[in-house]
Amino acid sequence: MPDSLNRPADTKATGNAPAAAVEIKDLRKTYRGTPKSPPKEALKGISLTIPRGSIYGLLGPNGAGKSTTINILAGLVNKTSGKASIWGIDIDEQPRSARAAIGVVPQELNLDPFFTPREILDLQAGLYGVPKSERQTDALLEAVGLKDKANAYARTLSGGMRRRLMVAKAMVHAPPVLVLDEPTAGVDVELRQSLWAHVRELNKAGTTIVLTTHYLEEAQELCDTIAIVNHGQVVACESTEKLLGRIDSKEMVVTLDADLTEVPEAFRGFDAKLDGPRRLAIHYKPSQTRVADLLGAMAAAGLAVKDLSMVESDLEDVFLEMTRAPAA
Ligand SMILES: Nc1ncnc2c1ncn2[C@@H]1O[C@H](COP(=O)(O)OP(=O)(O)OP(=O)(O)O)[C@@H](O)[C@H]1O
Ligand SMILES: [Mg+2]
Repeated sequence: MPDSLNRPADTKATGNAPAAAVEIKDLRKTYRGTPKSPPKEALKGISLTIPRGSIYGLLGPNGAGKSTTINILAGLVNKTSGKASIWGIDIDEQPRSARAAIGVVPQELNLDPFFTPREILDLQAGLYGVPKSERQTDALLEAVGLKDKANAYARTLSGGMRRRLMVAKAMVHAPPVLVLDEPTAGVDVELRQSLWAHVRELNKAGTTIVLTTHYLEEAQELCDTIAIVNHGQVVACESTEKLLGRIDSKEMVVTLDADLTEVPEAFRGFDAKLDGPRRLAIHYKPSQTRVADLLGAMAAAGLAVKDLSMVESDLEDVFLEMTRAPAA
């Protein structure tokens, strides 16, 4: 067993906290090949600056390199080249302190089935050198909704409960940076909401959160900044709002109070189609057309609008567009 990790003195979100919680520069990783498989260049130069205090989403299709990036930060995978620092601490120069500044919930669940949640948290706290008087075992169990399971064998927990226990385990040393690799995979809708709420609370209390997810809705809902990774490279990295604004496409659906047989003349120039005799769906580019213009054209064509709804593009549209490109 490794000796206790040293907790950096300035890991609280106040004081001389760095502007960037995590800084990654030109990170590269090539997994060695085996007689049966060729080497794999999983990261081809990833650079990311994760601001302190953010909820940062790392998105990308299967095999994009998300877990590899996270596992390098966690000290579980050796990088081939590049630089990374956590809370201002270089992972090569001070690996132990860097590791103490981060809590990682890995994608793969690895809990000892014969320990109870309380024992698991206590062991982990011991490993990180957290003195008994500073341990937050009960508060953590409460926070992840496992207080009533504190003394049950881990093997008797459901998959979602195990994942929540992993979150608590990653938090025992109160790291300023918490990394969640697919935190809600296999977690039901209700518990997912409660995990999100917990993540938001941690973030409010000053913890920087980095998460990967395949639920784009989760990223859109939770993250203030999103990086999209594809084939080991960052293909987009900006605020969630900006990213969503990138897609210059909206849809207006109007319900008319009379039947139509074809798309009215005034809308032939648009990507418009009849969606039933009284529903007209019009795709347009917000950068070129205003809703007022569309409504004006309706009125001019003598169409009476009974109801109207707008369909916004979402992260899924952005994601698909950014990751559609084949491997370079
Ligand atoms: N230990 C390993 N040995 C060899 N190749 C690996 C190893 N771990 C990952 N890879 C390869 O590196 C690439 C990136 O994998 P990684 O696990 O980082 O992807 P990911 O973005 O986390 O994907 P997912 O969404 O499926 O979790 C993949 O092609 C994968 O097969
Ligand atoms: Mg992964």
